[in-house]
Amino acid sequence: MSEDNKNRAQFATRLGVVAVTVGSAVGLGNIWRFPYEAGANGGAAFMLLNLLFVFVIGVPVMCAEFVIGRHTGANVRGAFRRLSPGTGWGVVGYIGILSSVLILSFYSVVAGWTMEYIWRSVAGFGGMHADAESLHSQFDEFAAGNVRPAMWTVLFLLCNYAILARGVEKGIERVSNVLMPLLFVILFAFCVHSLCMPGAAEGLGFLFRPDFSQITPSVVLSAMGQAFFSLSLGLGCLITYSSYFSRRTPLVKTAFLTASLDSFVAIVAGVIIFPAVFTFGQEPAAGPRLVFEVLPAIFAEMAGGAVWSALFFVLLFTASLTSTVSMSEITIAWLCDDMHMSRRRATRINIGVAMLLGTLCALSFGCLNGVRMFGMTLFELFDYVSSNVLLPVGGMIISVYAGWVLDRKVMRSELAPATRRGRALVGTLVFCMRCVAPVCILLVFLAGLGLLPV
Ligand code: TRP
Repeated sequence: MSEDNKNRAQFATRLGVVAVTVGSAVGLGNIWRFPYEAGANGGAAFMLLNLLFVFVIGVPVMCAEFVIGRHTGANVRGAFRRLSPGTGWGVVGYIGILSSVLILSFYSVVAGWTMEYIWRSVAGFGGMHADAESLHSQFDEFAAGNVRPAMWTVLFLLCNYAILARGVEKGIERVSNVLMPLLFVILFAFCVHSLCMPGAAEGLGFLFRPDFSQITPSVVLSAMGQAFFSLSLGLGCLITYSSYFSRRTPLVKTAFLTASLDSFVAIVAGVIIFPAVFTFGQEPAAGPRLVFEVLPAIFAEMAGGAVWSALFFVLLFTASLTSTVSMSEITIAWLCDDMHMSRRRATRINIGVAMLLGTLCALSFGCLNGVRMFGMTLFELFDYVSSNVLLPVGGMIISVYAGWVLDRKVMRSELAPATRRGRALVGTLVFCMRCVAPVCILLVFLAGLGLLPV
């Protein structure tokens, strides 16, 4: 660690490191995005591809981010500047900063929806009818209503401000320690409940019985984009976080643990959602609205549904919060370290820009619905461009850098294999960083965009 890092904040405990990293990874990406992407892209085949990408590309890229972040102890832009001064590599930093703001904007809209649903649960949502038709129109009415979605988006970003302005250890670490374990417990309870529904067999079949004829290049690209999104990879989010890791944190273990827990939560979310989709005769390919139409149907059926519903959305809200805090930290760390701003000022700028763009995304379900680029609304465009383009490109550059440019000694001392098996594992990971990940990402990316003849 260099001289100027002596005063850098550090996560206090090993549990804290896992809680913040898993807190960043587990969020709407697992519970909202994974089910709707799987629903729209053929179910089981999509899930298998996604898992393949998580472990073959995701874990190596995550290790690359960890190594770069902890070794330099710097933000994403500063890390590359320190490692390779005067070269073009620092561009990754700018890609990361730009796309983290884009993601933060549309993500906050969906997190705002969870706040609306907390509100609705408290206001007696349990008495509602669980038919597909009325759930559909309820969501439509709300999302097209302009004022409320925009208001919640802004409110959600204010919650981020409150945590971020307090700093890394006290704000982020404490909140994650308490809330992440609770989320696991409640998901498990819902999982059991869903398995008892009449549509369980059909739902599980959709999620676990692959139909490989469904796989097209664009499905493969979406599965890869989902892996990056869900693991918080490609933007230097984990470079930033690992700059707060202590020397004792085992990087490879943390990467595997994060990837496994993250995938587990996504699959559990699928096990909760799809039985309900088929029980209530809904459409799996409903898109971003899927979870918000299906979950209320489950709650309406349950005894004490209003309480469960409130509890579930509160947890989803907090899971989102620990993720958006990690996205914001990318930009804030950069503004503080390199632009020498105070933490408060940096946070204000980051959240301010996100409020502006987030409001536009929220309105793209209402009065701005007609504004389309490449046939997509602003919300869809932000999601597509960041997840399917910027994250994979960022991830590719990071893994090429770690595999080919970074000093081998740094890699070895950071990943520190102690046993023979450990050395073999690290060797495999480095091979994936150097060759497998970049080549796969490039091929999937070009094919998915229709630029390869397949
Ligand atoms: N992984 C988070 C989720 O699944 C989202 C997220 C947090 C993210 N930080 C990120 C996505 C950085 C991409 C890059 O909800």
